[in-house]
Amino acid sequence: MTEPVLDVHLTPEDAAHALRADVRAGLTANPKWVSPKWFYDATGSALFEDITRLPEYYPTRAEREVLADRAGEIAAATGAHSLVELGSGSSEKTRLLLSALREQGTLRQFVPQDVSVSALTEAAHAIMADYPGLRVHGVVGDFTQHLALLPGESPRLVAFLGGTIGNLIPEEREKFLRTVRDVLEPGEWLLLGTDLVKDEETLVRAYDDAQGVTAEFNRNVLKVLNREVGGDFDVNAFEHVALWNAECEWIEMRLRAKRAMTVTLAGLGLTVEFKEGEELRTEVSAKFREDGVRRELEDGGFSLHGWWTDAEKRFAVSLARAV
Ligand code: SAH
Ligand code: AVI
Repeated sequence: MTEPVLDVHLTPEDAAHALRADVRAGLTANPKWVSPKWFYDATGSALFEDITRLPEYYPTRAEREVLADRAGEIAAATGAHSLVELGSGSSEKTRLLLSALREQGTLRQFVPQDVSVSALTEAAHAIMADYPGLRVHGVVGDFTQHLALLPGESPRLVAFLGGTIGNLIPEEREKFLRTVRDVLEPGEWLLLGTDLVKDEETLVRAYDDAQGVTAEFNRNVLKVLNREVGGDFDVNAFEHVALWNAECEWIEMRLRAKRAMTVTLAGLGLTVEFKEGEELRTEVSAKFREDGVRRELEDGGFSLHGWWTDAEKRFAVSLARAV
């Protein structure tokens, strides 16, 4: 089998540089934070796939239900020649879109983009094997930085699935949507997956599962820091916290220090003190309402063409057109 084309817009050196800058900023801030983009080394990407199969983690199943119902409609509305997928991960659900576009005869190219080289190369190989004749052009890149460099034959459908837009804070989302709009031609398409506001118990359970897989995923970021910036975090001295912030309507994942400790990050020449009980924020996962999604899309220069949810109204997929 021929190899998929792979563009690297984020080299390991760039990623190391960005990680160092982020870690210095986040660990010297009060309260401390780390960007969720650093969860996804090969172990983190594999743990995320485990999360998608947990009984408590409904978003993947709910979004798959919507795509299974609506992929034909989405293909017909967009007539897309290229499917560009941001934060593509395993691209498993994306197959529903690829198959619908292939069946109607418009699909020529698939462009998955992800910061995780392992997830991207595995997915690109698997899709090439299962969609003979499809040009697969993978891009290692950061969707908050490298959108202008994405290939793709017009008309393009840009898919941003899984609710990953919720991992951006509102200002980042605004900038992200405007940038996506700027790289599209009027009339091209964005397909956006958003998890919806629901009862607190369901939400918290989805981020604090009984088997502790999400806890392991969360703590994995400390292993990434230990490896990449010479840290000496005692990973087991941090406990996983998932809480619902009702004011911001997002889940927050944090890591709480079980005891006071001094952490050295040798690669940064940085020493960081944690008090007992101090929390490090590792992720927000915003939950949405229809009005809010419509407003954010319109502010970004899109018009909402379709809004679909699963039968239990847990998760929505929106199809929006660049104005
Ligand atoms: N879209 C898939 C995967 C979601 S997990 C799904 O719906 O199941 C989030 C994915 O986004 C991971 O594969 C992660 O590596 C990627 N990611 C996170 N931050 C990113 C960034 N800034 N730029 C590009 N990819 C990113
Ligand atoms: C990728 N992203 C949409 C996931 C989420 O639900 O926010 C990441 C995740 N974090 C904990 N579990 C899953």
